[in-house]
Amino acid sequence: MNTWCILGDCLNKSCHHCYPVIDCKYSHSHCIKNGCCVEINNQHDLNTLQDIDVIRESAMALNQDIILVTGCAGFIGSHVCEHLLKQGEYVFGIDNLNDYYDVKRKENNISILNKYDNFFFEVSDIKTTGIIEKCRPTKIIHLASMAGVRYSIENPKLYNDVNIGGFIHILEECVKYNVKQVIYASSSSVYGLNKKIPFSEEDKIENCNSPYACSKMAMELYANTYSQLYNISCIGLRFFTVYGPRGRPDMAPYKFLNAILNEKEFDKYGDGSTSRDYTYIDDIIEGIMGALYNKKDILCGVYNLGNSNPVSLNEFIESCEKVTEKKARFNVLPMQLGDVPHTYADISKASADLGYKPKTKLEDGLRKTMESMLQVN
Ligand SMILES: NC(=O)c1ccc[n+]([C@@H]2O[C@H](COP(=O)([O-])OP(=O)(O)OC[C@H]3O[C@@H](n4cnc5c(N)ncnc54)[C@H](O)[C@@H]3O)[C@@H](O)[C@H]2O)c1
Repeated sequence: MNTWCILGDCLNKSCHHCYPVIDCKYSHSHCIKNGCCVEINNQHDLNTLQDIDVIRESAMALNQDIILVTGCAGFIGSHVCEHLLKQGEYVFGIDNLNDYYDVKRKENNISILNKYDNFFFEVSDIKTTGIIEKCRPTKIIHLASMAGVRYSIENPKLYNDVNIGGFIHILEECVKYNVKQVIYASSSSVYGLNKKIPFSEEDKIENCNSPYACSKMAMELYANTYSQLYNISCIGLRFFTVYGPRGRPDMAPYKFLNAILNEKEFDKYGDGSTSRDYTYIDDIIEGIMGALYNKKDILCGVYNLGNSNPVSLNEFIESCEKVTEKKARFNVLPMQLGDVPHTYADISKASADLGYKPKTKLEDGLRKTMESMLQVN
């Protein structure tokens, strides 16, 4: 049996960051705060319940919100939690730590969040989680999903089960335990092959071209339905190609920067004329906070959170070369199934209702992303 402390600075009995662990299914000799290990001694279970109660009671005594963030170990989720924790909010996070990409990246994200005493983490699946009954949040930021367009084409049922089924479970729990505000992640992918640009929330959605896009569209329909039936405020945010430190390793910004920095080749799909509305993580966080604290009593709605400044793939690669001061080397391959030619957000609705104003220029954002990658390596 080993003990290990996330903070690395204490082995006190009372420290809720240290747990003895045996027989972890991920072969850890340690446990990241509250989970990921099959067998943890009874003391651990006791501590877990105490942690939830302590955090809940502190929040209630101060009349503060209890915010549940699903997908907290992921790219956007970990930034959302970090931002909220720095503001002094009480945050419960769940994630199933799946291996769609390297689990270590998710564990690292959790270890950053575990440094805050106002944070509680549980490994839990959105399809079955009982966390809402346990922590009784006042607000939920629902980010857990299977992300990634291409993987959804190979695994459509998984996207149906997790993204739609998981969201329905969360909404049902909200009804049961009287949660009245849900902010959830939708995606620019819902616009699919729409030709009219910029994409507006008023546009008809009838050209989804991947199971991922369909699952996000279905989530919007369910959100609409639950908010009508049960008076729950459900705000959907259509994110446009988010990038930044701790970014997803399956996405172009990370893949290209990583390959260029390591003088390796990457795959470029198409002739480079496709374009994306790359949006820096700090701007996305501002948009999410605009939705969370909105003063407009929005009962239901969807909002584009993009940069409203699309760049072509060729221009994007040039920007990566500029910030790394290295030449890109790539293989040119045909466009892939599920790719869309362009994304471009009309952000006037988000600007009017959520005060959303993205500020980060692509090269500045890429430079910060690169610097964080160099620090990790
Ligand atoms: N990153 C982008 O550019 C982008 C664009 C549009 C929409 N989105 C949406 O934003 C959200 C966050 O995306 P991200 O880029 O941070 O992805 P991510 O994969 O880094 O984060 C998602 C997290 O959800 C967790 N998760 C998945 N299935 C789960 C389940 N069944 N139960 C509990 N946790 C589960 C994963 O382990 C992961 O940590 C997703 O809903 C995604 O669809 C992201």
